Amino acid sequence: MIQDKKIVFSGVQPSGNLTIGNYLGAIKNFSRFSEDYKTFYCVVDLHAITVRQVPAELRRRTYETLALYMACGLDEKKNTLFVQSHVPAHAELGWMLDCYTMFGELSRMTQFKDKSAKHSQNINAGLFTYPTLMAADILLYQTDLVPVGIDQKQHLELARDIAMRFNQIYGDTFTVPEGYISTDTMKIMSLAEPTSKMSKSDENQNAVVYILDSKDDIIRKFKKAVTDSDSCVKYSEDKPGVSNLITIYRAFTGKSIEEVEREFDGRGYGDFKLAVGEVCADGLAPVREEFSRLMADKSHLEAVMKAGADEAAYYARKTMSKVRRKIGFVN
Ligand code: TYM
Repeated sequence: MIQDKKIVFSGVQPSGNLTIGNYLGAIKNFSRFSEDYKTFYCVVDLHAITVRQVPAELRRRTYETLALYMACGLDEKKNTLFVQSHVPAHAELGWMLDCYTMFGELSRMTQFKDKSAKHSQNINAGLFTYPTLMAADILLYQTDLVPVGIDQKQHLELARDIAMRFNQIYGDTFTVPEGYISTDTMKIMSLAEPTSKMSKSDENQNAVVYILDSKDDIIRKFKKAVTDSDSCVKYSEDKPGVSNLITIYRAFTGKSIEEVEREFDGRGYGDFKLAVGEVCADGLAPVREEFSRLMADKSHLEAVMKAGADEAAYYARKTMSKVRRKIGFVN
């Protein structure tokens, strides 16, 4: 098989219900690469266990994340959809790259610092080396482009550094990947605390809109969204709540900032929040429907993950044999 298309890789953790942050910042963009790139979209279950998971929930969410990929428009025939732990080369390369990643580099990762503060009872070694495993995911497929939200930028830069370091020692081995960060939706903020990221692990359910929330829940959450004491729908740095809602509204309608500001000129926040809730719920309705249909057929999902893992393993093997040879392992 000759690979002449450029390669795209991205992953999502099955560590919680997926949010509109995951959708708008990452998954919604994935399908735009399906035609012109060779695409690998992975459910990164090895990453998820850096935080304690309930086994039955992890299993269920792994199926759900795969089904959501498909429900968001990723055709399994045009994209390689698979589960990370089904391709052992991720963990194997992860270990090898650990030996080319510096303690100091990993100590500087802001996500590690945030997560260790949040899970102070379980600051495990996996949480610390998480970014190296992520580098392995990306480098294993000789990835050119990695579509992610802005929160993954630091990890991506580390992956590039590791690739360049390895190439410098052993000669050209890994493609040095570039990030693809969609500027408009790179950071969807919490509805309750619009200066922090919307996160699937947030305990405040009103702060987070899940892709699979019902229309009523979505509208209720947007109605409660924190704005400010002004009543003017205007995009501005000192109006983080309103600006976040404008971003979400734009993502579902394709309108520009000016169009949105004009549309709600003089209409107040009540009207605006309801409209954001409606476009969001209506935009997600087809995803929810398709998701339910896919989840009803587990054996089809299993066939997709099996075929995906076989395909991914084929590409992974090529990189691994090169890496083993370069490092000096006996064949
Ligand atoms: P994860 O599972 O936290 O999130 C999945 C994707 O969603 C993006 N995202 C957001 N984008 C905009 N606004 C938000 N509020 C928001 N929240 C999340 C994330 O940036 C991500 O693109 N470490 C990764 C998973 C991973 C990975 C990889 C990604 C493992 N290996 C290799 C790319 C390539 C993570 O925790 O994503």
